[in-house]
Amino acid sequence: MSTTLYFDDLIATQSLVSSRITLTETHIVLFAGLTGDFNPLHMDEESARQGTFGRRIAHGMLAHSISTGLRSSIDDWAIIAFLETHRRFVAPVFAGDTLHYVAEIEELRKSQSNPARGIARVKLRLLNQGAEVVQDGEDVFAVACRPGGRVMSPRLQGHVALITGGAGGIGSAICQRLAQEGAAVIIADLGPGVAELAHSLTTRGYQAIAVNLDVSSRDSWTAVMADLPPAFKAVDILVNVAGIVRDRTLIKMTDEEWDAVIDVNLRGSWMGCQFGLAAMVGHGWGRIINIASTAILGTYGQANYSSAKAGVVGLTHTVALEAARHGVLVNAVAPGIVETSILASVPEEVRARWIAKMPLGRPAQPAEIASVVAFLASDDASYMSGQVLIVDGGATTGDY
Ligand SMILES: NC(=O)c1ccc[n+]([C@@H]2O[C@H](COP(=O)([O-])OP(=O)(O)OC[C@H]3O[C@@H](n4cnc5c(N)ncnc54)[C@H](O)[C@@H]3O)[C@@H](O)[C@H]2O)c1
Repeated sequence: MSTTLYFDDLIATQSLVSSRITLTETHIVLFAGLTGDFNPLHMDEESARQGTFGRRIAHGMLAHSISTGLRSSIDDWAIIAFLETHRRFVAPVFAGDTLHYVAEIEELRKSQSNPARGIARVKLRLLNQGAEVVQDGEDVFAVACRPGGRVMSPRLQGHVALITGGAGGIGSAICQRLAQEGAAVIIADLGPGVAELAHSLTTRGYQAIAVNLDVSSRDSWTAVMADLPPAFKAVDILVNVAGIVRDRTLIKMTDEEWDAVIDVNLRGSWMGCQFGLAAMVGHGWGRIINIASTAILGTYGQANYSSAKAGVVGLTHTVALEAARHGVLVNAVAPGIVETSILASVPEEVRARWIAKMPLGRPAQPAEIASVVAFLASDDASYMSGQVLIVDGGATTGDY
């Protein structure tokens, strides 16, 4: 069961990736019947062979409708109305193509005329099985605000959280959730979305700043921690989210691919723990949460990533021991597959294989990782340290 996402839950720059659908003969026949468009380029193999594309192409408006439908399949937004849609046909869609929709929230603003709703503008692309863009454009929705206010029960009031990789798919959901829980959030990232996300949170009344941080650089950490404004100085929650992948099978993997992944995922988390713990010493309360991955169990083509994430688990256990006397609890979250833009590049057959192994039959939404991080950051987890919480919808449970 998915949770309803209200306007207050949306994040500017957040990426949305839909499930996939294969455009079949039945779609084309039904669409032709509905619209009366029986053009032989769509309906007749022989005529289509003589045409520009040499194959039957799907009706443009059929691709359009599929893209709108895919948008609805992403998650459960409290959409009141579809206000505008602009689509540009970039490349033809053929019978048998498998399509998915990738979008990014470009703008969030409160409605001038109705305080109970907001306006979300989304930039979109429709991709085929070869990752070719077949359609791009923009959708604008009116989305309901959370009834009765924005936060359920803020557990992190008075705390300051620094989230590395805070502009990414999972990181931005964590920033949003910790802000909703009352924390002042420092969004630390290399990515271009970092300033927009901070702006989007502050315009909705949350406390947030953006900082440019390269987690693998000691100089960068030193500069960021030294330059924090007074209201954000007392960092007592540090979430190490920044991560990259450079997949290749072992024999072909280069030194650069190994080093880059170890530098960001492992060295970056190690430095985050160092700078985070140093900031927390003397407060008597603190939380460090590292994002690992179920790749610790081994994943094909990811010797670098799986070693780095296994290292993050070892780091978590050790820092938990050293930090306990300062009142700092250190835990890790190991997600399975999460619906972020990372997944857009995964080939259809690999993705289908992954989903077939998932007892819940779907990847996680970033908000479902963020809620576990919020729990670990809160006093609800006051007797937990040195633990790794696997959040994979049961995928690593049982015998496959
Ligand atoms: N998406 C998944 O399926 C999945 C599953 C398990 C674990 N994870 C982990 O979750 C974390 C977030 O992944 P995501 O899916 O949101 O990916 P993402 O690419 O959307 O986010 C990663 C973020 O890290 C930032 N980053 C990269 N290098 C950096 C550096 N040197 N310094 C600072 N920031 C840097 C990027 O700019 C980006 O914003 C990663 O650690 C990833 O390994 C992801």
